[in-house]
Amino acid sequence: MCGIVGYIGKRDVAPLLLEGLQRLEYRGYDSAGIVITSRTAAGKPGTLKMVKAKGRVRELEAKVPKRFAGTTGIAHTRWATHGAPSDENAHPHLDADNKVAVVHNGIIDNASELRAKLTADGIVFLSDTDTEVLVHLIARAQADTLEEKVREALRHVEGTYGIAVMHADFNDRIVVARNGSPVVLGIGEKEMFVASDVAALVAHTRQVVTLDDGEMATLKADDFRTYTTEGSTTTATPTTVEWEAESYDMGGHDTYMHKEIFEQADAVDRVLRGRIDDRFSTVHLGGLNLDAREARGVRRIKILGCGTSYHAGQIGAQLIEELARIPADAEPASEFRYRNPVVDPDTLYVAVSQSGETYDVLAAVQELKRKGARVLGVVNVVGSAIAREADGGTYVHAGPEVCVVSTKCFTNTVVAFALLALHLGRIRDLSVADGKRIIDGLRRLPEQISEILAGEDEIKRLAAEYAEAKSMMFIGRVRGYPVAREASLKLKEVSYIHAEAYPASELKHGPLALIEPAMPTVAIVPDDDLLEKNRAAMEEIKARSGRILAVAHQVQEKADHTIVVPKNENELDPILMGIPLQLFAYHTALAMGRDIDKPRNLAKSVTVE
Ligand code: M6R
Repeated sequence: MCGIVGYIGKRDVAPLLLEGLQRLEYRGYDSAGIVITSRTAAGKPGTLKMVKAKGRVRELEAKVPKRFAGTTGIAHTRWATHGAPSDENAHPHLDADNKVAVVHNGIIDNASELRAKLTADGIVFLSDTDTEVLVHLIARAQADTLEEKVREALRHVEGTYGIAVMHADFNDRIVVARNGSPVVLGIGEKEMFVASDVAALVAHTRQVVTLDDGEMATLKADDFRTYTTEGSTTTATPTTVEWEAESYDMGGHDTYMHKEIFEQADAVDRVLRGRIDDRFSTVHLGGLNLDAREARGVRRIKILGCGTSYHAGQIGAQLIEELARIPADAEPASEFRYRNPVVDPDTLYVAVSQSGETYDVLAAVQELKRKGARVLGVVNVVGSAIAREADGGTYVHAGPEVCVVSTKCFTNTVVAFALLALHLGRIRDLSVADGKRIIDGLRRLPEQISEILAGEDEIKRLAAEYAEAKSMMFIGRVRGYPVAREASLKLKEVSYIHAEAYPASELKHGPLALIEPAMPTVAIVPDDDLLEKNRAAMEEIKARSGRILAVAHQVQEKADHTIVVPKNENELDPILMGIPLQLFAYHTALAMGRDIDKPRNLAKSVTVE
């Protein structure tokens, strides 16, 4: 999804911004652009110089002229919403006098209406974007300061935005604003940065301020101030980003997906670290803001997330029901708001998001808060919008995940849910012995993950064998079903092979009609009380000449191939069973020559509806 980066200081701005854009490439984009200026004597207008290009940042870089010096600038990677990918539609956008430049993430909902009004007033539009209306509104604003001009323009706008604005007549500053799309300020020594994602900042500063919705900021080389869109000053306390710039490097792997799959043992170790309390066979989750009395009062838990985070939430709901005996379920956050849900005061809501910026999840949280619900966040990115909006929660500590296809965050999110379930369980009816059993199981996870990953060569061989399939079926029962759903999502998003996920019990109610030699099935077959039932489902598939790849704790006779994974506690087995299938999806996509880290049509952080 679109990315913003901006700088004001003394350094040569163009190389800084291009490097920042490269760090945002992982978010997905189709064009890029940059606008810069130099400081001038007070009262003397500057000149805005702009370059834009359809395609990758390196194509933009190739177009930047040799003499392109400046010390202030904003730049953007665009993911097309209004208007096709093209040089004209790439951001920044300028007004007719080349005075105002804007980069924008988000969507202006009333853009067509505003465009019609501005066109009637004689404005000529140069792009098909919704963003361009903002440029003209700012250029036409009658106010005396850039801050007031931006504020005046935003009053006409409905929708979501993270914007950065430069003005030739006010070239000692960049003005930014946020409503539904992330804006982070980076504080340096006599220089200031702005970006939509800390990934673009951490190479230069780790002191950041994250704007809230409805907040604006003015950045100057040696200071900044924040205020609301209504003009009242707000307090901005800088926080330190824990992630190092190196965590964004490829670290010797060919792709981020591969790197992130192989980081999982360490990542799980990190989410467990400092949280286990052996004395009481429980865990401490500092930020929940839910005392024992309140936890005992929870009658139901509803988990909301999208895509992979939703699947992690499904496993989380099962863990909560099993360990804490609280009725729990997960629902796609993208649907939740639109069915006018009954919001019950005894229900605890949990919002799950890797990025902490997914619009659908954030909007669900805001709707819940508006109705008086208590919402916890299970989030990876510290200080992100969902983390800040929630009443409390826990971070999943997976470290930065760059590949669009989520792997290590999924695993760490499920482990974080296991911790939450254990914590709630030990406050309620989970025995000391069962608490200890789960803790021992959690402690075994990192080593077992390494054991699974050591089998990469065999998984790669299997992937090559199945890569010819046009379509694949994924099945599992109860604990295995969300694993099947997530594995099917992994395969389709990175390899583009069509994949269906069904509870194994549902096969004979319809999908069995699809089974034939050309439609292989991946079966999740844990050694638990449903083992025989899963075997029966494999029999049904074999009877229709279907090929089967099983992920199991022991070799399955009915399957053509089995990936054997180490056994943990029944409740924790789903955490391990998905991991070989991440590698399976990866190697299938690799064999097919796919763009692994940036699958077509997808973005890392979906900050629009
Ligand atoms: O950042 P989030 O966890 O909120 O993102 C939610 C989904 O967009 C995300 O999980 C998506 O499904 C990934 N591409 C999965 O690999």
